[in-house]
This record gives sequence, C-alpha cells and structure tokens, in this order.
Amino acid sequence: MPPAELKLARYGVLLESETDFAGWRDAARRLALNEVRPEDISWHVAAGSGRPPSDLPAVPDGVQLVVPRDFIEHAETAFCHSDPSRFALLYRMLWRLRTEPKLLAIASDPDTRRLEAMEKAVRRDSHQMHAFVRFRKIGDGDEERYVAWFEPDHFIVERNADFFVRRFTGMRWTILTPHTSADWDGERLAIGPGAAKGDAPEQDDTEALWRTYFENIFNPARLKVKAMQKEMPKKYWRNLPEASLIPELIAGADKAATEMIARMPTIPAPHHAKVQAKHWPKREPAEVSQGDEASSISELREAAKGCRRCPLWRDATQTVFGEGPDDAKVIFVGEQPGDQEDLASKPFVGPAGKVFDAILDDAGVDRQKVYVTNAVKHFKFEPRGKRRIHSKPNAGEVQACRWWIDREFTLIKPDLAVALGATAALSLLGKAIPVTRMRGQVIEREDGLRVFITIHPSFILRIQEAAEKDAERERFLTDMRQVKRLMTT
Ligand code: URA
Repeated sequence: MPPAELKLARYGVLLESETDFAGWRDAARRLALNEVRPEDISWHVAAGSGRPPSDLPAVPDGVQLVVPRDFIEHAETAFCHSDPSRFALLYRMLWRLRTEPKLLAIASDPDTRRLEAMEKAVRRDSHQMHAFVRFRKIGDGDEERYVAWFEPDHFIVERNADFFVRRFTGMRWTILTPHTSADWDGERLAIGPGAAKGDAPEQDDTEALWRTYFENIFNPARLKVKAMQKEMPKKYWRNLPEASLIPELIAGADKAATEMIARMPTIPAPHHAKVQAKHWPKREPAEVSQGDEASSISELREAAKGCRRCPLWRDATQTVFGEGPDDAKVIFVGEQPGDQEDLASKPFVGPAGKVFDAILDDAGVDRQKVYVTNAVKHFKFEPRGKRRIHSKPNAGEVQACRWWIDREFTLIKPDLAVALGATAALSLLGKAIPVTRMRGQVIEREDGLRVFITIHPSFILRIQEAAEKDAERERFLTDMRQVKRLMTT
C-alpha cells in the first residue's frame, strides 16, 4: 500500500535508500524531460524493499537534459543530509536551472542558501566522523579486528568509507552507526544496515593510549572551551576514551599555561647561528659562483648556495633548492621556503609540506617521483620576538629568482609544471593570475610547457572553520588527482 501522499501527487518516486542518489538522478531526469513540475512529485524512501516498480515516464526520444556539472557535485553532497525535503529541493533546483543557469551563484536565493547550508552540514558531519571515530579492538591473532560506534547527524557513512579504507588499509575494521555500517576486511568494503550501540565493544587496551596522546597534545595556553566544544561537540564525548580527561584538563589549564610560559626558551635556538655560519662563509660577491656553467641539477644546486641575486640571502639561513629526480616529468613550484625549510634546506618539509604530502599520497602521486621547488629560494620573514613570521616575496624578488627556476626547468625538461599559489603562477607565467578563479586549469606557455594552476597548501592550513577546511582539502585533492591524470597524458 503506497503512502497516502502518493495519491495526491501526480508522480510518486520511491528511492531505494536514503543515499540512492543514482535512483534520484534517474527519476529526476525522466521527470524533467517530461516537463513534470516539482509540485507534481512526491519523493519517498522505500528502505529495504529494493528498487520498487516505477511508474515514471520514459525518456522521450531525441531530447537531452543539460545540467551544470557543478550542480551534480553540490547535489551529491546535499543528498547525504538527513532532511527529507532534500529530494524535492534538488529537483526544484534542477527544474529552475533550465531557465536560470546562474541560480547557484545567487547567494540570496532561498533554494541556493538551503543547498549550501545542507552541504556545509554534511561536510561538517564528515569532518567530525574523520576526527572522532574511535576503533576498539576485538579478538586476537587471525581474529583481530576493530569496531567503532559513531552517531552521525546525516547519511555520510558511504561517502566517507573510502577515507577510512585509505587511512586504515592494513586493519580489518567495522564502523557501526544507527543507520548504516561499513566493513573493511582488508580487501573489500561492504556497506550494510545500521546497528545498535550495544553491538560495539565498550573498552580495549588502546583507550589508555588515546588518553596519553590527548594529554600530551593538549596545549593549556590555547584553551578555548567554547571553540573546543564546537570542534568536539559534547555528543561525541561519550564515545571518546580521551574525553574523560577533558574536565580535569580544563580545570588545571591556567596553572599549566603559566608553567609552560616559564619553560619557554629565552634566547634564539643556537643552531640558527651555526647553520648560517656554515652556509655563509665570508665570501665576496665576485667569488660567488653564478651557476651559468652548471650542466646538472646538482651543480646548479651547489651554485645556488652562493646566490646573491636579491637581498633575501642576508637574513635567511641558507638556500633551499629544489629536490627530486633530475628527469622528473612534473615540477611542483611553491612560493618560498618557510621557517622549517630554511633550517633543513629542503622544500616543503614544514606544516604546509605535511598537508602537501598527505594529499599527494591520497591522490596516488608519489612525491619521490616528482621534483619540488620554490619560486623564491630564500626564506623571507619578519622577526617577531623569537619567532620568524613568513613574509610574502615581492615581484622583484620573484623576478630575481626566476634565473634559478628557469635553469631548473631547462635541465629537467618536465612535461608539466604545477603552480602552487599565486607567487608560483607569477614566476612561471610572468603575470599575476587569479588563482582561486583559475584553479584546475592548464595554461600553455609559449615554450609549450603546460602549467597547472592550483592553490598553495598553506591556504588549507589557514582556514579555521573545520568543515570549510575539509572542503578545501577535498578541492585540493581533486586538483592533485587531475595532476596525476595529466602526468600520464
Ligand atoms: N611553502 C612553500 O611555498 N614552500 C615551501 O617549501 C614550504 C612552504
């Protein structure tokens, strides 16, 4: 017996499950091509009964539904929201897009606003899932596996299962939620029905480990209780082994912060001066090799140690030259070394490098096989107390350093360059580029080199809002996947 509302609407669509996006898409396509208005459709989920027989009209001959690709991406995300009105909202938007192609850009439109709010909620929920799923061990030896209980607000398990497969490939694990479960047996991912909290184990030996870890990373000087509760909502506390420590740590935070300040170093780290002395022997500029004769990357790297093409060498510890195979097919270009790169004389080894490495890895790009360098080879900074704060290189410094980067490209002869951010794009293309607008695009230079434009990974680090950070990470991952495809074409 169909639900009562089905009789009122002209068409009743029964989706196979809450996440049956393919079913929604198919139904929406048929209905839109048959000019069925949004108000003549009711949408339902017939969970558990398999795909129901459909009374939907067939696709008429010779017509096509043109849908902007980004709408499908937005729709796929919003589809995971738990609001039952999402099916109708998405169809209404699809319907309107036919005559209002700019609809998604109208931020004040109520449908666009609702779509964005749903996406944001889904991304935030996904972020919480990445951060707060805690596995508990059951069984030993061949029987060993890990089970987690998690209570998401939305239907996000299928969407995020791949994340856990990538992170915990070597473990056999199951994530149970009230609506869906995901099970990885080391080779195959299976999505199944929901479960009850009691189906998941309560305690295991790793709890103590989590607590120790949390105690160690807890920084009392940065304690903001409200922000912490926003990041780690109380509803997750009961499933987190480390949560039992939170009240105690908050209570002792003031004292711990005072002690921590007292322990802070009062003089600059001695190795700064030592490294600088080693790399900047007192040489006159005339003695410094200019690198003109370098016929290999290692000769060029050696020559660059004495670079004085702009004044940045004076304050930096040492030159940070590019790294990677001499015959790499792709060169990634960053902006300039940061504090840690300056000390290590290696590009992208600090916080932005960590983000970069993790996303390259997720995209299946092997960092060992690519060459990574910077538009500017010396760290530019403003001293603030004992800290050295990154300062953006100016156009003159970028121009001066093009001398080195041009030679790196001439010697390596890559098929593709990846500009990580605006400074890299300026260096590679000789003009300013609106990176956020042009990201994902390939620009061919006059010499035939393809330059792929994307953001700098430190942009992700600077985003405060967790869901937005996650979304930006996903966008960067999409870019890196495209780079991977371009590497093979
Ligand atoms: N940011 C960059 O652009 N390059 C580095 O090497 C590190 C951070």
